[in-house]
Amino acid sequence: MWLVAVSVVAMTAFTIAWVAGFGDQNVPDNTYRTTPAAFQQQVDEFTQKYLGDDGKVHVPPGEDAYLMAQRYGFTPELVLEAGNEYTIWMSSRDVLHGFSLIGDNLNLNLEIVPEHALALTLKAEKAGTYLVICNEYCGLQHHLMRGHIIVEE
Ligand code: CUA
Repeated sequence: MWLVAVSVVAMTAFTIAWVAGFGDQNVPDNTYRTTPAAFQQQVDEFTQKYLGDDGKVHVPPGEDAYLMAQRYGFTPELVLEAGNEYTIWMSSRDVLHGFSLIGDNLNLNLEIVPEHALALTLKAEKAGTYLVICNEYCGLQHHLMRGHIIVEE
C-alpha cells in the first residue's frame, strides 16, 4: 500500500510540476460561449467581407478569422500571409470535432466544441497548403472530414 501511496504522490507532484513548467502549449486560453447560429452569423459576415474571386477568404494581417466546423468540413477556406500571426476563432455547428494541423513550424491539435468559440493563434513561416484534419470521431464520414489553410508569401 505504501508503494501505491508513494507512486500517487510522485505522479501528482510530477504532473503539477510539468503543467507549471511546461504548460504553455497549444491549449487555447481564449474562449467564449456562443451558439451555432450566432457563430455562423459571425462566420458569414467575416466571409462576405474578405471573400475573393477565387472563392477563398483572404484574411488581412491583423484581422481575426472565423472558421466553422461542421459534418464534414471546415468553412470557409482561409488564405493567410506567411510570417504573420493570426487569431482564428473556431466553433462547431453540430458535434464535437477536432482540428489538427501539422506542417512547417506548426503542430496544432485541438477540440472544437459546440456552443463555444475558441481562439487559435497561428503563424506559418512558409507558404503552402496546410491540411487540416478532424481527429475527433464525429460521424460516419469522419475520416473524410478535412480542410485546408492556404499560406501565401
Ligand atoms: Cu469532424 Cu471527425
